[in-house]
Amino acid sequence: MVDVLTFLRDEHPEVYERTRYEVVEISSALAERQRLQAERAGFTVDLVKPGVKRVSSPAAEPSSSPSSGSTTDRAQVRISNVDFFDWAGSSKESCYFIALEVFDNFAHDMIRYNLETLEPMQAVVTIDNTGDFSLLYEPVTDPVIRRYLGYRRLVSGTGGGNSGHPAAAAAAAPFSSSHLPVSATPPINPLLLSSPLLRKIYTSLPFAPNLSTPEFIPTKQILFLEKLREALPYHRLLVSDFDSLPDAVEGRNGPVVQTSLIMTSPPRKLSSDFFSPHRPPTTTDSTSRAASRNHRRSPPPDLIGVRGFKHRHVGVYDHADFLTRFGSQDELKGTTTKDGDNVMLSMYKNVKFMF
Ligand SMILES: C[S@@+](CC[C@H](N)C(=O)[O-])C[C@H]1O[C@@H](n2cnc3c(N)ncnc32)[C@H](O)[C@@H]1O
Repeated sequence: MVDVLTFLRDEHPEVYERTRYEVVEISSALAERQRLQAERAGFTVDLVKPGVKRVSSPAAEPSSSPSSGSTTDRAQVRISNVDFFDWAGSSKESCYFIALEVFDNFAHDMIRYNLETLEPMQAVVTIDNTGDFSLLYEPVTDPVIRRYLGYRRLVSGTGGGNSGHPAAAAAAAPFSSSHLPVSATPPINPLLLSSPLLRKIYTSLPFAPNLSTPEFIPTKQILFLEKLREALPYHRLLVSDFDSLPDAVEGRNGPVVQTSLIMTSPPRKLSSDFFSPHRPPTTTDSTSRAASRNHRRSPPPDLIGVRGFKHRHVGVYDHADFLTRFGSQDELKGTTTKDGDNVMLSMYKNVKFMF
């Protein structure tokens, strides 16, 4: 935030005059840190905490109400110390929304596909009366999972069917089409995927699984994009995250799980942290669909709840591609070491930008 505002102030003062930067930060400690950084850099700041009187830089006081005043009256920086999912939104104007390393901690759901029918099955966790956890699979009823699958079918061009049931529509979809991105098809061997007969034979073999390997789908990310569409209808989104992670859980898009243990004998589980890769596989994936705002046509019945069909081009870039395309030669020189290696171009191979 400080770098963006400093750049605008120094290089594009006329844009800086019109620019207001809002940070949405769930952590009070980090919100406070952001406030200090912005004030130290000389920007006026308005720190907004739910239910607490506003803490403003002196220069921001007179016109710090979010609803009052024009853009140019308000503090340059507003820090909203709130969960993004409870955030009211702040502007009906065009703006950029930047989310760097935010999606990787968002919750995912796990689904597997019935190998014979290709019907997606949602995984649910049950706890028995001795406290043991088990995984069960059932047909998809969760509305967010259904919407995710709906967005994905739309993007892959398989969403126009007449079937009223998403599972049947999914089974009928031409998954074997070579034009489909791999991420739009169930995680099943392509040969099996293309042949109902082979799948029938395979699943009737002794000990053969009847479900595909797991797929972890970014359902919280869908809620994020839908919320963003409502809160800032004229946004343009910039996202960056890891698109693959080492030592991940088996399955497509599997998370990395870090578990802390209390070192007693036997060790007792204390807490777990999940990181999930964010894989924007093509320039027209579900993210762009969910982020789009307008309804241009009515959804077919099997895509109820999936809103926003206007195609908006969303580019996906490797770390190096993004910096080369949007950064200047001068800025890139600043990250080149004496031996000529540019660390910003040669490292972060598992990071992608979506813009
Ligand atoms: C991994 S950090 C991003 C670090 C950032 N890219 C940087 O370079 O400093 C993720 C940030 O998102 C914030 N965050 C995560 N979930 C949030 C939510 N639901 N609402 C608001 N902030 C959230 C975290 O508190 C944290 O500050």
